[in-house]
Amino acid sequence: MKARVAILISGGGSNMLALLADMAQGDHPATPVLVASNDPLAGGLAKAASLGVPTAAVSHRGLARDAFEASLLEPILAAKPDILLLAGFMRVLTPGFVHRFAGRMLNIHPSLLPKYPGLHTHQRAIDAGDTQAGCTVHLVTPVLDDGPILGQACVPILAGDTAGTLAARVLVQEHRLYPAVLRRFATGDRTPLLA
Ligand code: GAR
Repeated sequence: MKARVAILISGGGSNMLALLADMAQGDHPATPVLVASNDPLAGGLAKAASLGVPTAAVSHRGLARDAFEASLLEPILAAKPDILLLAGFMRVLTPGFVHRFAGRMLNIHPSLLPKYPGLHTHQRAIDAGDTQAGCTVHLVTPVLDDGPILGQACVPILAGDTAGTLAARVLVQEHRLYPAVLRRFATGDRTPLLA
């Protein structure tokens, strides 16, 4: 039986598309059952739908965090996912929500955690004079961008890099790392993948 995967996005969903493309391979141990977004206009929703994946939009606007999460939970629970993937999902989840999916919710973050949790990761790496940046896939715990690391990939920071050029270089690695980690995770392999 393939592991059932739900993916939460907030924007264009390029990581989500990389995950769907990999899961479309016949030998994959997981299958997508839902792509959901807090933004009904998220470009990734239409892309997922065009690939035949069920989608749901639950706007967070005007809702308290608990009410938003209660609404978001409905389509997620209906889809019965074994694994929940955050892929460019830009809302902070409450401990109650996180506990519900403890040990089976993953996130991708565009830095070499534990460096630079939160926002503006690429600019912060450049400003710090770092020579390397990268991305991390980790298990989600109630602490933001914390939790056991399941995989990391590095890229060089080059002279003249802006946050934009660095983000583009990191994103290429994100699209490789997240599918690779999911393949391992779906078969029960939690050993970190360091690329
Ligand atoms: C990705 O770079 C992802 O790592 C980042 O947002 C981007 C989403 O791109 N996530 C975070 O910053 C989470 N805190 P995508 O929508 O094209 O996958």
